[in-house]
Amino acid sequence: MPGVKIHAAAHYAPPKIVTNDEISTWVDTSDEWIMQRTGISQRHMSQGQNTSDLSIKVATQLLEKTGLSPETIDLILVATVTPDYLSPSVSCMVQGAIGATNAIAMDVNGACTGFVYGLSVAHKYLASGACRHVMLIGAEVLSKYVDWTDRNTCILFGDGAGGVVLSAGDNFYGEKLHARGAMPITMAYQPVVNPFCPGEKSAEASQLKVDGREVFEFAVKSVSENIDELLAATGLTLDDIRYIIPHQANRRIVEGISKKLKADMSKFFVNIQNYGNTSSASIPIALSEMLTAGLVGAGDKIIMSGFGGGLTWGSVLMTV
Ligand code: ACO
Repeated sequence: MPGVKIHAAAHYAPPKIVTNDEISTWVDTSDEWIMQRTGISQRHMSQGQNTSDLSIKVATQLLEKTGLSPETIDLILVATVTPDYLSPSVSCMVQGAIGATNAIAMDVNGACTGFVYGLSVAHKYLASGACRHVMLIGAEVLSKYVDWTDRNTCILFGDGAGGVVLSAGDNFYGEKLHARGAMPITMAYQPVVNPFCPGEKSAEASQLKVDGREVFEFAVKSVSENIDELLAATGLTLDDIRYIIPHQANRRIVEGISKKLKADMSKFFVNIQNYGNTSSASIPIALSEMLTAGLVGAGDKIIMSGFGGGLTWGSVLMTV
């Protein structure tokens, strides 16, 4: 099966930075606790920008970097759990804003696995020959759903976006994706308000709720097993992999995965200290930073691993 070539990557985060010390002024926590338990030092926070605004910033950069005209994009995918509207999709808003008049557009809701799921969808469209160029963006404004009075969760999340332009290539591509319907992470429940349904659900159910301990254990176990099964399926070993780019949820989760895989932490890219957990955006932000810094280049094999709400998890192994 043909692979997927990355033409360019880009990312954008809102300029407002919120430090752990600033969060400590409104909930009972400290820089020391947050750093020790999560590895997060700061996060970017939207001040009025919505998910489409962040996505359009990335899309514009991607067009500049690739030199492609917007009419040559056939498919726009935005991985997000924080769309501006239920409809139109963020991807349609991007399509309109950049004038990608020949593109179809759809959002992918895979929570923190959204970008990896999106890669899989992009791969199928490209491998079948249905599309020449796919723009895939992961973007979130999680701050609009965070319960800012709950110290268990409000310290974890940040806003941001990242993306890539992809086309079919002869480079290596493999994937293993999963889902298991379960509820340790929920957000944005819409109460039924029509006059035929008695009773309303409480408003607090609409905010982001995480069973941190359960997600932590799920992530370490599932991601390490997932990477093992992907390597086995592709006939490769960790020595063939230049970098693993895990979803950035907690530095200790990455350390747990590295321990289970018996792989040194230097094999994993971690930038959670600067962004917090940006859900669908964390992997493309990381990829964009790594390409800019020259940490990965043409010919390198990387694994991108997502895990999160749904529950969903999965990994893609590909040549850059
Ligand atoms: N500051 C200080 N103390 C705190 C804070 C805080 N911000 N938050 C919790 N505590 C306290 C707790 O109240 C508890 O106190 P107690 O023992 O007196 O009850 C103590 O610290 C330990 O709490 P734990 O929950 O056991 O802490 P843990 O080491 O498990 O870390 C954390 C919690 C950081 C949430 C971790 O479990 C985690 O990262 N889980 C993964 C969550 C995640 O990223 N999910 C991603 C999915 S989101 C999505 O998909 C959109």
